[in-house]
Order: sequence, then structure tokens, then C-alpha cells
Amino acid sequence: MTMRVTALAAELRGQGVDVIGLSAGEPDFDTPAHIKEAAKRALDAGATKYTAVEGTPRLRAAAAAWFAKAHGFPVSPAEVMVTAGAKQAIHNAFHALLDPGDEVILPAPCWGSYAEIAKLAGATPIPVLCRSADGFAIDPARIAKAVTQATRMIVLCSPSNPTGVVLGEATLRALADLAEGHDLWLLTDDIYRGLCYGGARCVQPATFGPEIRRRTIIVDGVSKSYAMTGWRIGFCLAPPAVIAGMATLQGQSTTNAAAVSQAAALAALEGPQDALEQMRLAFDERRQFMVRALRAMPGVTCVEPQGAFYAFPDVTAFLGRTSPAGRRIDGDVALCEYLLQAAQVAVVPGSAFFAPGFVRLSYAASQANIEKGLSRMAQALVELK
Ligand SMILES: Cc1ncc(COP(=O)(O)O)c(C=O)c1O
Repeated sequence: MTMRVTALAAELRGQGVDVIGLSAGEPDFDTPAHIKEAAKRALDAGATKYTAVEGTPRLRAAAAAWFAKAHGFPVSPAEVMVTAGAKQAIHNAFHALLDPGDEVILPAPCWGSYAEIAKLAGATPIPVLCRSADGFAIDPARIAKAVTQATRMIVLCSPSNPTGVVLGEATLRALADLAEGHDLWLLTDDIYRGLCYGGARCVQPATFGPEIRRRTIIVDGVSKSYAMTGWRIGFCLAPPAVIAGMATLQGQSTTNAAAVSQAAALAALEGPQDALEQMRLAFDERRQFMVRALRAMPGVTCVEPQGAFYAFPDVTAFLGRTSPAGRRIDGDVALCEYLLQAAQVAVVPGSAFFAPGFVRLSYAASQANIEKGLSRMAQALVELK
């Protein structure tokens, strides 16, 4: 579904149409200069060879120290591995821990790749949709109802793609209890952890005690907060036996993350952090502007995103209406196609996140493009009768 809208956007751009892209899942900022410089130096110093499967010893140690500082517990390098992006960490973890027939609970709206990767591992994704009326808060009692004999794992993402919601401590404690009580793995995707706004704070369930830490797999990386999506570096923190299984798998797939990218990631973790804060502040300003503009559109409601770089408004009021060209808008995918064709704005249908009736807009775009895109969208929505 996302690809259909992306393909249509590419086709329109190919015809010279000025499409405003509010669909991207990556920062519009370039990687900070000191990180790129470190990579250039590393190439000249020989970062052109294979590395250990789990990552260079220096980056593994730096990532362990980074996790320890973020979460306030000791971390040994044996609990950490470096992957080609957070996505490979998720892929490795699912394939290492899930067997055919196992069920994975996905509180939704959530990133569509969890379900696809779970299916690749032979497992069955079980999305449990949270309500926008509750601010997309996860109701642990509803998650508990979805647990069966076949359940092996719960996947959490905070801040969330696509809603921007940051999970509260009480919810996380209840979910941790559930995981302990039913002998489940908890995979927390923390890729947007560095991007929280308005005083929101990410709580990591592995900090609750040794029992939950033993069953938690933490996925993180540099892609989003350091503007390094193309370098493909992710990190995973898990019990050593899980890391060993993941490394066995990775040893027969990509072997190691690119040596030069690992050198760049080392510079990201160990170098100055001020660029990070500048990007976070810029995202926050755009977030506030986007939420105000969306809420000003008659018929649109929007839960306040507290993290990541997405807004996820409810557009059900427009479904069933007809476009000026006479096309019936029969769902969120049709609405996204209409917004592209009539307003030249690219946004992602909520169905891609198990949430029909919503659309996802990214504010990882320039302020000028956000303003232009939202004003075109507002006009196009008014024209639906
Ligand atoms: C929730 C979530 N997890 C993981 C990823 C993948 O991150 P990476 O680029 O490091 O593989 C993305 C990218 O869009 C994402 O949105």
C-alpha cells in the first residue's frame, strides 16, 4: 500500500510535477560533518576489510557504554552486536527466537515491517489496535487477552512510528509483568529514543529488574537521531546467548555491517552531541507547527505526538466523500492517492500501520515544504463533498 503511493509519487515527479513529500521515514538533515570526516579518515586508515560479525571491538564497546549510560545499568560487549541498521537487528532477533507457528503480539498502529519480518521467520503477527480516543495508549488488559499458548514475543516501539506516542512507565510495568508471567520475549524498538519533545521521557522496561532484563531485546541505532539512515548501522542489546544466535545468523547473511559505517558510528557515539540537539529542536518546532495546522483543518483530529517525527491524524471524516473529479474516496489509500493527484502531497495511508482511517505525515521535511504541503492538503480536503 505504501509502495503504491510511493510509486505514484515517483511517477508524478518523473512527469515534472512538484510533489511535496511528507512521507519519508528519514531526517532531511545531512549526517553531521564530523561523522563524515571520521569516515573519510577511517577509509584512508584501512576500514576497507571485513570486521568481526558482531562489529569492531571498539564499536561494540562504545555501543555497550552508550546503552549503559542511557539506561543506567552495566552492559558488557558480549550483550551487544552491531547490525546493518536497526532493521537487521529485528530480522536477526525474530529469526533467532521465533519458530513457525509462534505468535508475535504487535500493539498497533505500528511499523508494518514487524509483521512482514515475523512472517519471514514463519511466525504469525497478531496486531492489537490501540484507540486514538485513548491517545493510542496501549491497554495492557487488551494485550493480555491476545496472549495464547503460541505467543512468544511482544514488540514495543516508543516513541512510536507512526503515532509519535511515548509509552508511560505504568503501561510498561504492566507489559513487563505480562511478559514475565507468560514467559515471553519483549522486543523494544528504541530507534526514535533520541527524539522526544515537550518533556516526554522514554522509559526502558529492562531497567525494572533482572528478570525482565533477561527477556528483553533492545534495538537501537544511529539512523534517525544522528541522521545516518544510509550508513546502515543498528545496535542490539540482549542476553549473550541471544546475541550469539543472532551472530550465527548474521554470519551467514551479511557477515558484518560495513567497516567504514562502523567507524562513522563510533564517531557519532563518541564525538560531540550538539548537532543532535539542534536537529531535535528543529523537529520539535516543525512538530508543533504541523499539529496546529492539522487540527485547524475541519474534520481532522490529531493525537499529540511526543516523539519520532510523525503526526498520525484521523481522517475518517473524509472517507465516503467524492472528489471534484467524481471519484469516491473509499478508504485511506484512496485518500492518499487523491491527495497526491489533486494536491501533489505525498503522505502514507494508515492501513500500512494496521490503522485504516488515518494517514501518516512526516515532519522530517523543510519548514517551507511542510507549510506548502499542509496548505495544499487543507484545500484538497475542503473540496471533497
Ligand atoms: C520503527 C522503526 N524501526 C526500525 C526502523 C529501521 O531503522 P534502520 O534504518 O536503522 O534499519 C525504522 C525505519 O523507518 C522504523 O521506523
